[in-house]
Amino acid sequence: MQIAPIAVGSLNHFGGKDDDRVVVNILKCLPPRTLIDTAELYGDGDTESVLGKCMTLAGQQWATDNDDDSSSGIYCATKYAPNMFRRKPEDVVQACQESISKLKCQPLHLYQAHYSASILPSLPFVGPVRDETVWEGLAQCYEQGLVENIGVCNYGPKLIRQAHDYFAARKIPLVSNQVNYNLMRASAALETVQVCDELGIAVLAYHPLGKGTLTGTYDEMDEPTMSKLKGKYSYYTLKRWLKSTPELRKAISQISSSTAMDGNAKKRSRSQVAVSWVIRKGRVPIIGARSAEQAQDLLDAVDWELTDEQVVILDEAAALANSNWTVLGKEFKLV
Ligand SMILES: NC(=O)c1ccc[n+]([C@@H]2O[C@H](COP(=O)([O-])OP(=O)(O)OC[C@H]3O[C@@H](n4cnc5c(N)ncnc54)[C@H](OP(=O)(O)O)[C@@H]3O)[C@@H](O)[C@H]2O)c1
Repeated sequence: MQIAPIAVGSLNHFGGKDDDRVVVNILKCLPPRTLIDTAELYGDGDTESVLGKCMTLAGQQWATDNDDDSSSGIYCATKYAPNMFRRKPEDVVQACQESISKLKCQPLHLYQAHYSASILPSLPFVGPVRDETVWEGLAQCYEQGLVENIGVCNYGPKLIRQAHDYFAARKIPLVSNQVNYNLMRASAALETVQVCDELGIAVLAYHPLGKGTLTGTYDEMDEPTMSKLKGKYSYYTLKRWLKSTPELRKAISQISSSTAMDGNAKKRSRSQVAVSWVIRKGRVPIIGARSAEQAQDLLDAVDWELTDEQVVILDEAAALANSNWTVLGKEFKLV
């Protein structure tokens, strides 16, 4: 797949609760060969169907084998979520067929394991679900022609090597690993992305805006307004990330302001600065837009590049950010 430099996510706002018009308007903005990322779990299981329906309403089409460079096809990536009750490779194949039917896209362009099965509890008598079972299922999807490419998500340095070796033995390329990667996470994700580079596995960077931390939206927000966000599941994470990134957010803001003064026709938003940095690091950001306006703002980042000097300023400020990723109060590290 020759995908466009920016991929588009569907986690937050493509679920069944949203007005379909928002989804359709976002889809209408997408340039040819954009990769759309979804998952069987998103939107309580609704997102794939919403996407399948709205692609047609937006006048967009999934890319096909016959597409050449001038085609306007869109690439489709979705994910298999390991759980304790699906214990056979055939379960992966069945889930894949269900995703194909909801998305109305066959073959899928990229099918990914959403996370390692090792995070699941082991059931009495039957034991744990093994990653090898999921890999075998993904391999069967590939060999049956249901999917064109295999990827994984949230795999750390050790697991990505194991998965790579497993698929290499089956003569199946492992093409991508989705990683929580952005200016705040540059050092935490370093070892993982280095191993991916060594193995020729593309890094798809999710949370490129740190779920909104790096956009400036929350910079001027006072505590009472902030506390109204409590319904957002990311509120506490957001607060912690904001606390740990004052220098970084200042650097992003200064670079954004300077673009208005350096002869550029257009001021570049802070969000564009953050997304541009991810692209400069050779990664594909998966952006999370809540509206067509947000999507267009981020997609416009492709026609502009940070200077080398601006990248150094951002790298230095990023090194000061201490944005650990915690789950249930404990630091979460990928294996
Ligand atoms: N594989 C995995 O395990 C995994 C995990 C998470 C996500 N993902 C993928 O990554 C995608 C992106 O994740 P994400 O949505 O959390 O990441 P994100 O892009 O870091 O953050 C999205 C948030 O940024 C704000 N935003 C977006 N565009 C903006 C703009 N132009 N100006 C100002 N604010 C803007 C919006 O927040 P507000 O407007 O509300 O402030 C939006 O909710 C997901 O949709 C999903 O496909 C994958």
